[in-house]
Amino acid sequence: MKRSIPELQHSAQPLVMVTAYDYPGGKHAQAAGVDLILVGDSLGNVVLGYDSTAPVTLGDMIHHARAVRRGAPDTFMVVDLPFGTYHTGVQDAMRNAVRVIQETGADAIKMEGATPEILQVVQTLTRNGIPVMGHVGLMPQTATAQGGLRVQGKDDAGARATLDGALALEDAGAFSVVLEAIPARLAKLISERLTVPTIGIGAGVNCDGQVLVTHDLLGIYEGEEKKIARRYAELGRAAREAIAAYAADVRAREFPTRDNAFVMKDDVLDKLY
Ligand code: KIV
Ligand code: NA
Repeated sequence: MKRSIPELQHSAQPLVMVTAYDYPGGKHAQAAGVDLILVGDSLGNVVLGYDSTAPVTLGDMIHHARAVRRGAPDTFMVVDLPFGTYHTGVQDAMRNAVRVIQETGADAIKMEGATPEILQVVQTLTRNGIPVMGHVGLMPQTATAQGGLRVQGKDDAGARATLDGALALEDAGAFSVVLEAIPARLAKLISERLTVPTIGIGAGVNCDGQVLVTHDLLGIYEGEEKKIARRYAELGRAAREAIAAYAADVRAREFPTRDNAFVMKDDVLDKLY
Protein backbone atom coordinates (compact mmCIF):
# COMPACT_ATOMS: atom_id res chain seq x y z
CA MET A 1 0.00 0.00 0.00
CA LYS A 2 1.30 3.42 -0.92
CA ARG A 3 2.02 5.56 2.11
CA SER A 4 0.50 9.04 2.25
CA ILE A 5 2.54 12.15 3.02
CA PRO A 6 1.09 12.40 6.57
CA GLU A 7 1.98 8.74 7.12
CA LEU A 8 5.50 9.34 5.87
CA GLN A 9 5.78 12.41 8.09
CA HIS A 10 4.67 10.56 11.21
CA SER A 11 6.56 7.34 10.73
CA ALA A 12 7.69 5.79 14.01
CA GLN A 13 10.63 4.13 12.25
CA PRO A 14 13.29 5.80 10.11
CA LEU A 15 12.06 6.30 6.54
CA VAL A 16 13.71 4.13 3.92
CA MET A 17 14.27 5.58 0.46
CA VAL A 18 16.24 4.05 -2.41
CA THR A 19 16.76 5.15 -5.97
CA ALA A 20 15.35 3.29 -8.95
CA TYR A 21 15.78 3.97 -12.65
CA ASP A 22 13.84 1.27 -14.48
CA TYR A 23 11.11 -1.38 -14.28
CA PRO A 24 13.08 -4.08 -12.43
CA GLY A 25 14.53 -1.46 -10.09
CA GLY A 26 11.06 -0.27 -9.19
CA LYS A 27 9.82 -3.82 -8.80
CA HIS A 28 12.63 -4.86 -6.47
CA ALA A 29 12.32 -1.70 -4.33
CA GLN A 30 8.58 -2.15 -3.95
CA ALA A 31 8.89 -5.85 -3.15
CA ALA A 32 11.53 -5.04 -0.53
CA GLY A 33 9.03 -2.71 1.13
CA VAL A 34 10.79 0.65 0.99
CA ASP A 35 8.82 3.72 2.07
CA LEU A 36 9.83 5.91 -0.87
CA ILE A 37 11.45 5.43 -4.26
CA LEU A 38 13.54 8.24 -5.69
CA VAL A 39 14.05 8.40 -9.41
CA GLY A 40 17.21 10.39 -8.88
CA ASP A 41 19.16 12.29 -11.47
CA SER A 42 22.07 10.16 -10.20
CA LEU A 43 20.68 8.32 -13.24
CA GLY A 44 23.25 10.37 -15.15
CA ASN A 45 26.17 8.81 -13.30
CA VAL A 46 25.10 5.27 -12.51
CA VAL A 47 22.96 4.38 -15.53
CA LEU A 48 23.81 6.74 -18.38
CA GLY A 49 27.56 6.93 -17.78
CA TYR A 50 27.98 10.70 -17.58
CA ASP A 51 30.49 12.06 -15.09
CA SER A 52 27.94 14.42 -13.53
CA THR A 53 24.18 14.88 -13.28
CA ALA A 54 24.25 18.08 -15.33
CA PRO A 55 23.62 16.45 -18.76
CA VAL A 56 20.44 14.67 -17.59
CA THR A 57 17.35 16.04 -19.33
CA LEU A 58 13.70 16.22 -18.37
CA GLY A 59 13.03 13.71 -21.14
CA ASP A 60 15.54 11.29 -19.59
CA MET A 61 13.88 11.60 -16.19
CA ILE A 62 10.40 11.08 -17.61
CA HIS A 63 11.47 8.08 -19.70
CA HIS A 64 13.03 6.34 -16.71
CA ALA A 65 10.41 7.34 -14.14
CA ARG A 66 7.63 5.87 -16.31
CA ALA A 67 9.44 2.53 -16.27
CA VAL A 68 9.97 2.70 -12.51
CA ARG A 69 6.28 3.42 -12.02
CA ARG A 70 5.30 0.36 -14.05
CA GLY A 71 7.39 -1.74 -11.67
CA ALA A 72 6.28 0.04 -8.49
CA PRO A 73 2.68 1.18 -8.85
CA ASP A 74 2.07 1.12 -5.09
CA THR A 75 5.10 2.92 -3.69
CA PHE A 76 5.48 6.66 -3.08
CA MET A 77 7.63 7.87 -5.97
CA VAL A 78 9.69 11.05 -5.98
CA VAL A 79 11.27 12.24 -9.23
CA ASP A 80 14.22 14.63 -9.41
CA LEU A 81 13.79 17.70 -11.58
CA PRO A 82 17.10 17.77 -13.46
CA PHE A 83 19.51 20.66 -13.85
CA GLY A 84 18.14 23.61 -15.76
CA THR A 85 14.47 22.62 -15.61
CA TYR A 86 13.53 24.79 -12.62
CA HIS A 87 16.07 27.61 -12.96
CA THR A 88 14.53 29.74 -15.69
CA GLY A 89 11.53 31.02 -13.80
CA VAL A 90 8.59 29.85 -11.78
CA GLN A 91 6.40 29.22 -14.82
CA ASP A 92 8.92 26.95 -16.50
CA ALA A 93 9.45 25.07 -13.23
CA MET A 94 5.71 24.63 -12.79
CA ARG A 95 5.26 23.43 -16.36
CA ASN A 96 8.11 20.94 -16.05
CA ALA A 97 6.91 19.64 -12.69
CA VAL A 98 3.39 19.18 -14.09
CA ARG A 99 4.84 17.19 -17.00
CA VAL A 100 6.67 14.90 -14.57
CA ILE A 101 3.56 14.34 -12.47
CA GLN A 102 1.25 13.79 -15.45
CA GLU A 103 3.56 11.71 -17.61
CA THR A 104 5.15 9.50 -14.94
CA GLY A 105 2.60 9.21 -12.17
CA ALA A 106 5.10 10.64 -9.67
CA ASP A 107 3.76 11.48 -6.22
CA ALA A 108 6.24 14.31 -5.70
CA ILE A 109 9.21 16.01 -7.28
CA LYS A 110 12.57 16.91 -5.74
CA MET A 111 14.83 19.84 -6.49
CA GLU A 112 18.17 21.04 -5.15
CA GLY A 113 18.89 24.25 -3.33
CA ALA A 114 17.37 26.94 -1.16
CA THR A 115 18.17 30.18 -2.94
CA PRO A 116 15.40 32.82 -2.98
CA GLU A 117 14.63 31.77 -6.57
CA ILE A 118 14.31 28.08 -5.65
CA LEU A 119 12.24 28.90 -2.57
CA GLN A 120 9.82 30.81 -4.75
CA VAL A 121 9.51 27.80 -7.03
CA VAL A 122 8.91 25.48 -4.06
CA GLN A 123 6.22 27.81 -2.76
CA THR A 124 4.44 28.03 -6.11
CA LEU A 125 4.51 24.28 -6.74
CA THR A 126 3.34 23.32 -3.26
CA ARG A 127 0.56 25.93 -3.33
CA ASN A 128 -0.59 24.39 -6.57
CA GLY A 129 -0.70 20.91 -5.13
CA ILE A 130 2.62 19.48 -6.25
CA PRO A 131 4.45 17.97 -3.26
CA VAL A 132 8.12 19.01 -3.20
CA MET A 133 11.04 17.33 -1.49
CA GLY A 134 13.91 19.75 -0.85
CA HIS A 135 17.63 18.96 -1.01
CA VAL A 136 20.45 20.85 0.74
CA GLY A 137 24.07 20.20 1.64
CA LEU A 138 26.00 18.73 -1.25
CA MET A 139 24.05 19.42 -4.42
CA PRO A 140 25.52 17.46 -7.32
CA GLN A 141 23.81 19.53 -10.05
CA THR A 142 25.83 22.58 -9.05
CA ALA A 143 28.79 20.85 -7.40
CA THR A 144 31.28 22.66 -9.59
CA ALA A 145 30.09 25.97 -8.19
CA GLN A 146 30.14 24.47 -4.68
CA GLY A 147 33.83 23.66 -5.08
CA GLY A 148 33.47 20.04 -6.13
CA LEU A 149 31.82 16.95 -4.67
CA ARG A 150 32.72 17.58 -1.05
CA VAL A 151 31.20 17.75 2.41
CA GLN A 152 29.18 20.92 2.99
CA GLY A 153 28.33 22.85 6.14
CA LYS A 154 31.58 22.33 8.00
CA ASP A 155 32.41 25.95 8.76
CA ASP A 156 30.32 28.67 10.46
CA ALA A 157 28.93 30.15 7.28
CA GLY A 158 28.30 26.80 5.64
CA ALA A 159 26.56 25.30 8.66
CA ARG A 160 24.38 28.38 9.06
CA ALA A 161 23.49 28.42 5.36
CA THR A 162 22.58 24.73 5.39
CA LEU A 163 20.37 25.07 8.49
CA ASP A 164 18.71 28.24 7.18
CA GLY A 165 18.16 26.64 3.79
CA ALA A 166 16.45 23.59 5.29
CA LEU A 167 14.25 25.77 7.51
CA ALA A 168 13.34 28.00 4.57
CA LEU A 169 12.41 24.97 2.45
CA GLU A 170 10.05 23.79 5.17
CA ASP A 171 8.53 27.28 5.36
CA ALA A 172 8.12 27.29 1.59
CA GLY A 173 6.08 24.10 1.84
CA ALA A 174 8.53 21.22 1.27
CA PHE A 175 7.13 18.03 2.82
CA SER A 176 10.61 16.60 3.47
CA VAL A 177 14.23 17.62 2.93
CA VAL A 178 17.22 15.56 1.79
CA LEU A 179 20.47 16.34 3.63
CA GLU A 180 23.45 15.24 1.54
CA ALA A 181 27.05 15.03 2.77
CA ILE A 182 26.96 17.26 5.84
CA PRO A 183 28.45 16.60 9.28
CA ALA A 184 26.34 14.21 11.37
CA ARG A 185 25.91 16.68 14.22
CA LEU A 186 24.66 19.39 11.88
CA ALA A 187 22.20 16.92 10.35
CA LYS A 188 20.99 16.00 13.83
CA LEU A 189 20.44 19.66 14.70
CA ILE A 190 18.58 20.32 11.44
CA SER A 191 16.45 17.21 11.98
CA GLU A 192 15.51 18.47 15.45
CA ARG A 193 14.68 21.95 14.19
CA LEU A 194 12.56 20.85 11.26
CA THR A 195 9.02 19.58 11.67
CA VAL A 196 9.10 17.75 8.33
CA PRO A 197 11.28 14.65 8.02
CA THR A 198 14.89 14.88 6.92
CA ILE A 199 16.29 12.12 4.72
CA GLY A 200 20.03 11.77 4.92
CA ILE A 201 22.78 10.50 2.67
CA GLY A 202 26.19 10.93 4.19
CA ALA A 203 24.50 12.83 7.02
CA GLY A 204 24.71 10.45 9.97
CA VAL A 205 22.22 8.25 11.74
CA ASN A 206 20.09 10.96 13.34
CA CYS A 207 18.11 11.96 10.28
CA ASP A 208 14.44 10.95 10.05
CA GLY A 209 15.24 8.67 7.15
CA GLN A 210 18.04 7.46 4.91
CA VAL A 211 18.50 7.26 1.16
CA LEU A 212 21.06 5.31 -0.86
CA VAL A 213 21.73 5.04 -4.54
CA THR A 214 20.65 1.48 -5.31
CA HIS A 215 23.49 0.90 -7.76
CA ASP A 216 25.92 1.66 -4.89
CA LEU A 217 24.23 -0.62 -2.38
CA LEU A 218 23.95 -3.45 -4.92
CA GLY A 219 27.52 -3.09 -6.15
CA ILE A 220 26.34 -2.49 -9.72
CA TYR A 221 28.07 0.88 -9.95
CA GLU A 222 31.65 0.19 -8.97
CA GLY A 223 33.34 3.53 -8.88
CA GLU A 224 35.63 4.27 -5.99
CA GLU A 225 34.31 2.99 -2.65
CA LYS A 226 32.03 5.65 -1.20
CA LYS A 227 32.36 6.51 2.48
CA ILE A 228 28.66 7.33 2.67
CA ALA A 229 27.38 4.05 1.18
CA ARG A 230 27.39 0.41 2.19
CA ARG A 231 27.47 -2.44 -0.29
CA TYR A 232 24.92 -5.12 0.46
CA ALA A 233 25.61 -7.14 -2.68
CA GLU A 234 28.16 -7.53 -5.47
CA LEU A 235 25.85 -7.60 -8.45
CA GLY A 236 28.45 -6.05 -10.74
CA ARG A 237 30.80 -8.93 -10.09
CA ALA A 238 27.95 -11.44 -10.31
CA ALA A 239 26.98 -9.99 -13.70
CA ARG A 240 30.52 -10.24 -15.10
CA GLU A 241 30.89 -13.81 -13.88
CA ALA A 242 27.52 -14.82 -15.32
CA ILE A 243 28.20 -13.27 -18.72
CA ALA A 244 31.68 -14.82 -18.83
CA ALA A 245 30.21 -18.24 -17.97
CA TYR A 246 27.68 -17.87 -20.80
CA ALA A 247 30.43 -16.86 -23.21
CA ALA A 248 32.50 -19.92 -22.27
CA ASP A 249 29.49 -22.21 -22.74
CA VAL A 250 28.73 -20.77 -26.18
CA ARG A 251 32.34 -21.19 -27.29
CA ALA A 252 32.40 -24.78 -26.00
CA ARG A 253 28.98 -25.48 -27.62
CA GLU A 254 27.61 -26.29 -24.18
CA PHE A 255 24.83 -23.78 -24.60
CA PRO A 256 22.15 -24.25 -25.80
CA THR A 257 21.42 -27.88 -24.95
CA ARG A 258 18.52 -30.05 -26.14
CA ASP A 259 16.51 -28.67 -23.20
CA ASN A 260 16.75 -25.18 -24.68
CA ALA A 261 15.84 -26.27 -28.19
CA PHE A 262 12.54 -26.87 -30.00
CA VAL A 263 11.66 -30.16 -31.62
CA MET A 264 9.70 -31.01 -34.76
CA LYS A 265 8.26 -34.14 -36.33
CA ASP A 266 10.69 -36.17 -38.49
CA ASP A 267 8.27 -36.37 -41.46
CA VAL A 268 8.02 -32.58 -41.66
CA LEU A 269 11.78 -32.39 -41.68
CA ASP A 270 12.10 -35.19 -44.27
CA LYS A 271 10.03 -33.15 -46.75
CA LEU A 272 12.54 -30.35 -46.56
CA TYR A 273 15.36 -32.60 -47.76
O1 KIV B 1 19.94 11.70 -7.50
C1 KIV B 1 19.96 11.08 -6.41
O2 KIV B 1 20.12 9.85 -6.35
C2 KIV B 1 19.78 11.86 -5.18
C3 KIV B 1 20.00 11.17 -3.87
C4 KIV B 1 21.42 10.83 -3.68
C5 KIV B 1 19.45 11.96 -2.75
O3 KIV B 1 19.49 13.03 -5.27
NA1 NA C 1 19.58 13.91 -7.35
